[in-house]
Amino acid sequence: MALSKIDPTSLSSWASLDKKFKAECDNHISSFFEESDRLEKFTISWKDFYLDFSKNRLSSSSFKLLIDLCGETDLKNNIEKYFNGSVINETEKRAVLHTSLRSSEIKNPNLKKEINDTLDKIISISDEINNGNKLGYTGKKITDVVNIGIGGSHLGPEMITEALSYYSHGVNPHFVSNIDPDFTSKLLEKLDPETTIFIIVSKTFTTIETLENAKKIRKWFIDKANVESIKDHFIAVSNNTEAPKEFGILSNNVLSIPEWVGGRFSLWGSVGLIISIVIGSKNFKEFLKGAESMDLHFRNSPFEKNIPVILALISIWYNNFFKCETEAVLPYNQFLGKLPDYLQQASMESNGKSIDRSGNKITYETGSIIWGSTGTNAQHAFFQLMHQGTKIIPSDFIAFKKSLYGDKAQHDILTSNFLAQTNALMMGKISSGSENHKNIDGNKPSNSIVINKLSPSNLGALISMYENKIFTIGSILNIYSYDQWGVELGKSIAKDIIKGKQDNLDQSTIKISEILKK
Ligand code: F6P
Repeated sequence: MALSKIDPTSLSSWASLDKKFKAECDNHISSFFEESDRLEKFTISWKDFYLDFSKNRLSSSSFKLLIDLCGETDLKNNIEKYFNGSVINETEKRAVLHTSLRSSEIKNPNLKKEINDTLDKIISISDEINNGNKLGYTGKKITDVVNIGIGGSHLGPEMITEALSYYSHGVNPHFVSNIDPDFTSKLLEKLDPETTIFIIVSKTFTTIETLENAKKIRKWFIDKANVESIKDHFIAVSNNTEAPKEFGILSNNVLSIPEWVGGRFSLWGSVGLIISIVIGSKNFKEFLKGAESMDLHFRNSPFEKNIPVILALISIWYNNFFKCETEAVLPYNQFLGKLPDYLQQASMESNGKSIDRSGNKITYETGSIIWGSTGTNAQHAFFQLMHQGTKIIPSDFIAFKKSLYGDKAQHDILTSNFLAQTNALMMGKISSGSENHKNIDGNKPSNSIVINKLSPSNLGALISMYENKIFTIGSILNIYSYDQWGVELGKSIAKDIIKGKQDNLDQSTIKISEILKK
C-alpha cells in the first residue's frame, strides 16, 4: 500500500493555520506563557529525553491545528505503511525498512534471517578484531580501520564513531570519502598496512569517488604489502554482489546492504560495521536498542506527545508559514560536532523535493536548509545573527545532563550557556536610552532537547528521532522522501566530462574546464 496522496494546502487545517499565522505571527513567545499550562502542554518527558518546545512562536490553538493536520494527511496510516514494509519509495519501487535493522519484533522470517545473518557477521568481525583473533598479514594486532565510502556510506559512520569515541575499544577509525587524492595520500602516509583494515562501503559499488579511492588504496597496499593479503585486509559492504569480487575481495568478506535500505539511513546495518568495530559489538547493540525504543515511541504515542512528530510539525510551521528557510542544529557537546553534517544529508537529500506524490509541481515549501555547529563554539561565530539579525532561525538546542568523565563543574558552565542562549533568544533585551544598537528584540524560537547522558542507546534514540521527524515531514508534505534523483544528474555529467565529452556543456563551464586543464 502506498502513502496517501493528499495536498496539505487543500486541507481545512492548513487554511486555519494560515489564518492563525496571520493573526498571531507578531505575538511574542513570552505572551504564550500567560496560559498556565504552557509547560505541561509544550514539554515531553520520555525515558532519558526531555523535550521543551515551549519557546516557539506557536500558540496552543495553532499547535492543535498542526495536530489536526496530521489527522487530515493520514499520518497514522502512513507511519504504519513505513514500518510494515509497504513500497513507500514508489519512484524506486522499494520498501523503506531501515527501521527493521534495529527492530527486535520482525515478523517476516526471511527478513529476520537476512537481518540477523548480517548482524552476526558485523558482531563476529568486530569481536575478532577487538579480541585479537583477527590479526594482520604479519600477525600483528589491528590498530586502524579505514572506511572508504561517501554520502550515506560515510556521514553516519563518521558522525557516530566520533560521537561515541568515549566508548572506543582502541581501534582508530579513519574515513576516506572525497575524491581528493591529496587527502588520501596524506592519510596513507601515517597508516601501516600490517595493522590496518579497509572497508569499502558502497551500496551500488559504482560510485566513482569510492571506487577511485579504493583503487588508489589497493595499489598502495599491494606496493607496501602484497597482493595475496588483500583477502585479509579488505572488506566490502555493498548491494552489488559481483563488483566486490572483481575488485579482489573474498565473498566471505562481503557484507550486504539490502535494497530496502537507503544510503542515508544505512548506518544501522552493515554500513555500521566500522561503528561496531570502534565502540565494540555490545555498545553497537545498545545503540540499535535505543533507536528501536524511539521507533516504538514514534509509532505508539499520541501525536501531541510524540517527539519526532512535534519536531516535524514545528519545522513545517516555520518553513511554510513564517517562510524561514533554515533550521539550526546546536549540540552542546563537542563529540556531536558532525551531527549537523549528517543531518544535512539525511534531511536535505530526503525532503529537498518539488514534485508531490501525485506527480504535480509543488506550490508550498518542502525541505528546510539544515546547518549548525556545537555550542559554545557557535556562540562565538554565528549566534550574533541569530540574536540581532533580520532572520528567524528555528533551532534545536541539544544538551546532556551528565558529563561522561564526571567533570560536573565545567559541565555546568557548558549547560549554563545552553540555558542562557535559549533564554536570551526568546526574551531579548531592550536597552534603555538611545543605544538602539544594543536592542535585542528576542522572540527567536528554539527547541530544547535535554538528554541524560551521551550513551550508545541515547544516541541511537536521537538519530532515530531525527529520521522519524524526516519521515513525518515528507509524509505531511506529500513528497517522496526516499529517492534522490536530483543527485544523479551531476553524477552523469561528471562522468561525461571525465571522458572528455563537452557537447552538452554551457560556454562558462567549457571555459573553466580549459583553465583547469592548463
Ligand atoms: O549522494 C548520492 C548518493 O546516492 C547517496 O544517497 C548515497 O549514500 C551515496 O550517493 C553513496 O552511494 P553508494 O553507497 O552507492 O556508493
